[in-house]
Amino acid sequence: MKIAIIGSGHVGLVTGACFSDLGNDVICMDQDVAKIRLLKNGEIPFFEPGLKELVLKNTAKNRLLFTSNMEEAIQFSQIIFLCVGTPPKENGEADLSAIEHVARAIAPHLTAYRLIVEKSTVPVETGLYLEKMIKKNISRKIKFDIASNPEFLREGSAVQDFFNPDRIVLGIESLRAKELLSELYKPFKVPVLITNIRSAEIIKHASNSFLAMKISFINLVSQICSSVGADIEKVAEGMGSDRRIGKSFLKAGIGFGGSCFPKDLAAFIRISEKMNVSCNILKEVSEINECQKINFVNLIRSKLKKIQGKKIAALGLAFKPDTDDMRNAPAIDVLNQLQMEGADIKAYDPCAMPEAKKYIKGVKFVKNAYQACEDADAALILTEWREFRDIDLKKLKKTLRHPLIIDGRNLYDPAEMKKNGFQYFSIGR
Ligand code: UDX
Repeated sequence: MKIAIIGSGHVGLVTGACFSDLGNDVICMDQDVAKIRLLKNGEIPFFEPGLKELVLKNTAKNRLLFTSNMEEAIQFSQIIFLCVGTPPKENGEADLSAIEHVARAIAPHLTAYRLIVEKSTVPVETGLYLEKMIKKNISRKIKFDIASNPEFLREGSAVQDFFNPDRIVLGIESLRAKELLSELYKPFKVPVLITNIRSAEIIKHASNSFLAMKISFINLVSQICSSVGADIEKVAEGMGSDRRIGKSFLKAGIGFGGSCFPKDLAAFIRISEKMNVSCNILKEVSEINECQKINFVNLIRSKLKKIQGKKIAALGLAFKPDTDDMRNAPAIDVLNQLQMEGADIKAYDPCAMPEAKKYIKGVKFVKNAYQACEDADAALILTEWREFRDIDLKKLKKTLRHPLIIDGRNLYDPAEMKKNGFQYFSIGR
C-alpha cells in the first residue's frame, strides 16, 4: 500500500521504515529540511538499535522515500499517518499546535479520498478536532476519513516492538477506514482491537499512565523496603509471579523519564480535570517519581557525609539504556542538584553524551567508565547500560579513591559487591 508519514521523529521514522520493510511504499515527510537531507544520506538523527539498517535497506529498494514537501507526500499516498509531537504545555495539557499545523498543511492537497491516521499520542477528542480543522481548509466535495492507530513502541526496542506488538488498536468510524487499515495490518498475527476513535485515543493515554503508575508503585514499595531492611527485588519477584500483576515494569530505581510517560501522565491528568474526574492517583504517580530522585540524592549525601568538594563519577545519563534520549532523564535533576551542592562530576554514557550536553552544564564528559571513576569519592549508576553490568569491578575499584558505589538502577548484586570490597548502596535493598 502507499503510505505517507508526517513527522519523521522517533515514532514516524520507525513506523515508516518498518511499514516499508513489509513491502509498502512509504514516503516520510518532515518540515525540517536538514533532517530530511540527513535521512536521504542514510544518516539517522537519533540512536535506535536496528533502525539504520532498516532505513538503508528499504531506501535502496526504493520503497522508502524522504521529502520535506507536503504536497508530494499527500499525492503519493492513500493512508497518511500523523506522527508529529504533542509536547506538554506549561499546565501539562498536550500542545496540539503541530497537529493543527499539519491539518492546515494537508487539507489543500487533498484532491482525492485519503485516510488520515493519528499515530502520535493525542488527548481524547483530538480526532474530532482534526476532522474539523481539515474540513475548514478543504474543498467541499473531497471525502476523507480520520482514524486513530496508537503506537506502543519503547525507545531502544522500537523496531522490535513494531514487528512484535501485543495488539493492534484501530479507532475507526467508516467501513473504508476499516478495510484500508485491516489490509495494512494483515501481515500481523496478533489481536486487532477495533473500536471508535475516542476509545483508541484513551487506550494509549491510559496504558502509558498505568505503566507509569506501576513503576511509581514499586518505587513507593522500595522506600518502605529501605526503611525496614526488606529486599525490593525479592518483593518485586514475589509480586510479579502473580499473573494478574506480571513481572514487567516492577523494577525499582530513580524513576521514569523519557518523552512519553511524563508527558502522557500530565496530559491524562489535564483530561481528567477537564472532565471533572478526580485524578489524585495520577498526581501521586508524578509525585512519587519526583521523590525518587530526591531520595536518591539524600542517599548520596548520607553516604558521602557532605557533597561540597566531593569528586563524583556518574555512570549513565540517558533516561534508559539503548537510547541517546535525555528527555526527562532522572540523571538531569540528580546531577544538577549535586552540582548545586558543590560536587565535582565526571560523567560517562555510551550513547547519550552529545544529547546530555544540552541538558547538563558544568559536568566533565569522559570517554569511559574507568576515566569517570578516576580518583572519585563515589560512583553513581544512573542508567543500567549492559556495559556497566559487565564492567571489570576489580579495575573499577582500583580507579576509585573510595570503593563506594551508589546504584540508582539496582544493577549489581549486593553480595557480589561486598565480596569485591565495595561499599555498595542501592534502591530498596
Ligand atoms: C514508553 C512505553 O513503554 C511505550 O509503550 C510508549 O509507546 C512510549 O513510552 P519508553 O518511554 O520509550 O516507552 O520506555 P520504557 O521502557 O517504557 O521506560 C520508560 C521509563 O521508565 C524509563 O526511564 C525506564 O528507566 C523506566 N522504568 C521502566 C523503570 O524505572 N522501571 C521499570 O520497570 C520500567
